[in-house]
Amino acid sequence: MLFSFVTWTLLSLAAPILAQAACPATPSPFPKAATFPTITTLPDPFTYLDGTTRVKSLDEWYTCRQPEIVKFLQEYQYGYYPDHSLETVTATRNGNTLSISVSAGGKTGQFSASILLPSGATSANPAPVIIAIGGIDNNVYLNAGIAVVTFDYTAVAPDSNTKTGAFWSLYNGRDIGTLAAWAWGFHRVLDALEMRAPEIDSKLVGVTGCSRLGKAALAAGLFDTRITVTMPMSSGIQGLGPYRYHALSGQDETLENSKAGAPWWSDSTLGTFVNQSERLPYDAHTIAAAIAPRHLIIDQGTGDPYTNSKGTAIVVFPAAKLVYRWLGIETRIGMAIRSGGHCDLSGYANVLPFVLQVFKGTPTSRNYSDLSPWTEMKEAYPWASSIPAAPSTTATASTSSTTAGASTTFATTPSSTTTTTTTSTTTSSAAGPQQTKWGQCGGNGWTGPTICVAGSTCTKQNEWYSQCI
Ligand SMILES: *[C@@H]1O[C@H](CO)[C@@H](O)[C@H](O)[C@H]1NC(C)=O
Ligand SMILES: *[C@@H]1O[C@H](CO)[C@@H](O)[C@H](O)[C@H]1NC(C)=O
Repeated sequence: MLFSFVTWTLLSLAAPILAQAACPATPSPFPKAATFPTITTLPDPFTYLDGTTRVKSLDEWYTCRQPEIVKFLQEYQYGYYPDHSLETVTATRNGNTLSISVSAGGKTGQFSASILLPSGATSANPAPVIIAIGGIDNNVYLNAGIAVVTFDYTAVAPDSNTKTGAFWSLYNGRDIGTLAAWAWGFHRVLDALEMRAPEIDSKLVGVTGCSRLGKAALAAGLFDTRITVTMPMSSGIQGLGPYRYHALSGQDETLENSKAGAPWWSDSTLGTFVNQSERLPYDAHTIAAAIAPRHLIIDQGTGDPYTNSKGTAIVVFPAAKLVYRWLGIETRIGMAIRSGGHCDLSGYANVLPFVLQVFKGTPTSRNYSDLSPWTEMKEAYPWASSIPAAPSTTATASTSSTTAGASTTFATTPSSTTTTTTTSTTTSSAAGPQQTKWGQCGGNGWTGPTICVAGSTCTKQNEWYSQCI
């Protein structure tokens, strides 16, 4: 007993080093498109890029596989995110306008952002914030006590091959896509908010945008762990529309037509997969899964066939959710299907209850796993029947891993989930993890703690939400 305790202690102290040494080697240099096998279903997210090794534990997911995904997404899709440790960010504030200046390598890029504060936001009572590009229904968020910060994304990087704007002032000549450049814009706005906006709680941050800007919001959530909730709206291909199964909705945004129409969104390597997208070693569900343990809410309208709402809902979402479930945090990913078309502003109200639950713990009766009018397409992810065995170690969902290039990573520690099994058998053992007062303790799909701290009782609110009261 003593021996194993000591061993365990030593191992856990040494864990970061051991775990890193144990990561399977990512092929170097990265394999070319033509060398990957053609996979007609969604690739298994638990299998490493080497094509054979599978993830065996939650720690391994966060220590090895998640960083590998972020790394190869930069290689194959986004381009390499600039090293933030080499940048100096300064910001000034005039009323609710922030002027942001970023310098690196003797060059400087500048752009500005606008702050809209909800009533009652003060430095003593800071408001959570949504950073948005493009149109957003501001009032829905302001009325809910959430600040909205916007910036002119074309001043960061134009939606064209033209290499002007703050990002290209610094990085012209690099093979980086505009989606990553816009993501960088979100992050530099957040830097400025941390410095100059005490009325904003920069630990509770959402990022959003629609269509191509939804693709950018997804990238913003992926590359910076300060983002609490990622909110891509009607995002389509290079967002959360699947490269495979792209024609499920009848109309057809594809890798091919997106690369032909706006080649600047991604790096040039993504272009090598044109006409062979089934060789991509990932699909949109892999991008979604790499955001865990942080929150992701996906908006799509039923009247938006071009971005393949159906494919996102019945293929990408359930596949990504399998990873979130395995990690013990399945309620942190949601699918918000609504009526209406592409970039309908009603999407913002549609996702608000999810966002309020994340930011303020406000319960909602909305079921963000409900895929109606559709049903999930299980044959798209055959690996669902061979999910790695339930991990035996305690889940440490804290990720202080530095993602390649993106050095703006901060530890994120989920508050309520400490253990998990894929079968979610919950036994009432007093030794189990305890939920804090007001926290969730049960409900359909809940795999977190079911025991409340002394002084509170787990009380059923509805079928999928019980709370420690
Ligand atoms: C892809 O296929 C189309 C249609 O067959 C063809 O016109 C195009 O040249 C191909 N592109 C590449 C990069 O192979
Ligand atoms: C939510 O929707 C999912 C998918 O349709 C379903 O399996 C689940 O039972 C629903 N939960 C509730 C509480 O209705």
